[in-house]
Amino acid sequence: MNARTLQDGLATAWLGRALAFVESVDSTNRWAADELAARVLPPGAVFVAERQTRGRGTGGTRWLSDDADGLWFSAVLHEPICTAPLSFLPAIALVDLAREELGIADVHLKWPNDVLSADRKLAGILLESQRQSDGRQAWIVGIGVNVNQARLPPEAGAAVSLRLLTGRTLRREAVFQRLLLRIEKLYDERTDLIARWRERSRMIGKRVRATRGGRVAWVHVLDIDAHGHLRIVHDDGARETWVSSTDLDIDRSWAL
Ligand code: BTN
Repeated sequence: MNARTLQDGLATAWLGRALAFVESVDSTNRWAADELAARVLPPGAVFVAERQTRGRGTGGTRWLSDDADGLWFSAVLHEPICTAPLSFLPAIALVDLAREELGIADVHLKWPNDVLSADRKLAGILLESQRQSDGRQAWIVGIGVNVNQARLPPEAGAAVSLRLLTGRTLRREAVFQRLLLRIEKLYDERTDLIARWRERSRMIGKRVRATRGGRVAWVHVLDIDAHGHLRIVHDDGARETWVSSTDLDIDRSWAL
């Protein structure tokens, strides 16, 4: 994989047209943030690494990505197209790609940004906002997809790859290009990400076990609201809206 093979055959108009590739970096989100701080980047600039030595996950966790089997990249977007988090974009795009192009029926979304197959994690997304060198706001959408791993390390938790789900080794460039095309389309069409997210998730209506700030609770998921926040109700009837997944761990047994 290199910048040429990633761009050769890419059919997008603007996403990934500016593309930088390295064999190894600590984190593509960190790399994109530094680039943004240093100079004005075109919307849709993409930073791809073959491997990450300190891949970042949500809530300060580590994202294991020191193999050359996955897709580890960050895209820079300049406009928030709707009140839903931009992190919904790649998650929705990947579910559709997996279902429609790879024939994986069992793929769905866990709030806020995880792509699961049954209860195993296929992809994660880390959205960060950052001020550009000209003072304007930009969003760094970091995307990690397990593609060709034949097995995943136990530290990755319950995880799965496209290869394990399809029985095929895939050309990562093709997955990258198809994913970018779908993300660009959803973005350009100002898609209602809330409706799309809801249609692709099995969480709504489920009773889930959540650990927040060290406390375990069973709650019932009511819906997501117009901002993409999760509305839940506790057993005693108290309602809450969860805004972020920081310090929150939602167990995945409902996904089976
Ligand atoms: C999660 O915890 O689910 C989010 C994982 C996000 C991983 C991707 S890989 C590319 C980009 N660079 C990073 O350091 N993290 C994101």
